[in-house]
Amino acid sequence: MRPIALIPALLSAAALVLAFLCLFAGHKKNFMEDYHILSLNVSRLGEGLVEGTIGQDEGTLGSLWDLVPDSIQDDVGEAAGAVADKLGIEDFYSAHLLDYCYGQFTPAEAPNATLDASDISRNVTGCSNSTAMFWFNPTEILERALNNSGVDVTLSDLKWPQDIQRGLDALRLVSVTAFVLYCIAIGLIFLSFLAALVAVFAAGRLSACVNLLVGILSFLAIGLASALVTAVIEKGADVINKHGSDIGVRADKGKKFMAITWVATALMFVTLLLWVVELCVGRKRKGTYAAKHG
Ligand SMILES: *[C@@H]1O[C@H](CO)[C@@H](O)[C@H](O)[C@H]1NC(C)=O
Ligand SMILES: *[C@@H]1O[C@H](CO)[C@@H](O)[C@H](O)[C@H]1NC(C)=O
Ligand SMILES: *[C@@H]1O[C@H](CO)[C@@H](O)[C@H](O)[C@H]1NC(C)=O
Ligand SMILES: *[C@@H]1O[C@H](CO)[C@@H](O)[C@H](O)[C@H]1NC(C)=O
Ligand SMILES: *[C@@H]1O[C@H](CO)[C@@H](O)[C@H](O)[C@H]1NC(C)=O
Repeated sequence: MRPIALIPALLSAAALVLAFLCLFAGHKKNFMEDYHILSLNVSRLGEGLVEGTIGQDEGTLGSLWDLVPDSIQDDVGEAAGAVADKLGIEDFYSAHLLDYCYGQFTPAEAPNATLDASDISRNVTGCSNSTAMFWFNPTEILERALNNSGVDVTLSDLKWPQDIQRGLDALRLVSVTAFVLYCIAIGLIFLSFLAALVAVFAAGRLSACVNLLVGILSFLAIGLASALVTAVIEKGADVINKHGSDIGVRADKGKKFMAITWVATALMFVTLLLWVVELCVGRKRKGTYAAKHG
């Protein structure tokens, strides 16, 4: 019996749950949607359109302008929000490993004198179907929304920068690799959990060695997956904020996602450390036993 092996078993079980949550967070509406990788705030997407057409009466853009209530026509931000609503564009689109979700900010899109930013919450309208190897394509999503809106406005009318999609597409391979690594990591962490349970009953050095090996592999898989997804989060948010700031588009980094994925990595690191210690102590124990009994 080696009761101490229960500790790595518990740590692996916790890491397994977290790795699962990384993969499945937001795979359907109301399931940890706020654990997204990136969230795109397009609630002010109409800004490019509104600024160019203030006061115009002619054409489609003029008639669109009529849809904006008089009371907010002076406020470019509010008017842009109203235009985006009329175009069928949601307030936010958020990317997960398996799908994307969309919805509205409540009670309002932006903080004001009486409404604090922390009081704004996300009301998820829906999510796309889950697919393996998913990658976020906001350009296509917005284009489809505009096509369905029945208003004759295109993405170029909204001054949507193509550079956003180009920047995101450059991250596609990294993101897909991260997805594959999460799947591998889940398998390895599960093995690590099983191996630790076996080691509770099989107190030999062999089981400790097997555990150390599986521990190292799981740590590498989850650590690499976390590093890749962190790169996607940082680079993706940079690209979107750089090219989107002119038209009121903003990206939020998935801080909560990063938190759970790095906690899972840390748990696997501690697991592997425990096995290193167990192997060293085990050898020492054996050494003293051999010295005493010669
Ligand atoms: C702030 O926004 C809330 C929600 O839309 C609204 O009820 C309130 O009147 C706004 N306050 C100001 C000062 O504009
Ligand atoms: C969304 O973006 C707009 C424009 O950049 C900003 O004013 C607003 O505060 C953002 N809303 C949230 C909830 O982050
Ligand atoms: C969320 O949106 C739905 C419809 O899209 C609405 O019925 C519901 O009241 C909203 N919830 C909140 C808290 O605003
Ligand atoms: C999503 O899945 C449902 C049923 O599984 C299907 O009816 C629907 O067409 C799918 N939607 C897309 C966009 O693929
Ligand atoms: C939107 O409509 C345009 C023109 O009809 C078409 O070229 C484009 O493929 C459509 N986009 C989507 C995502 O359906």
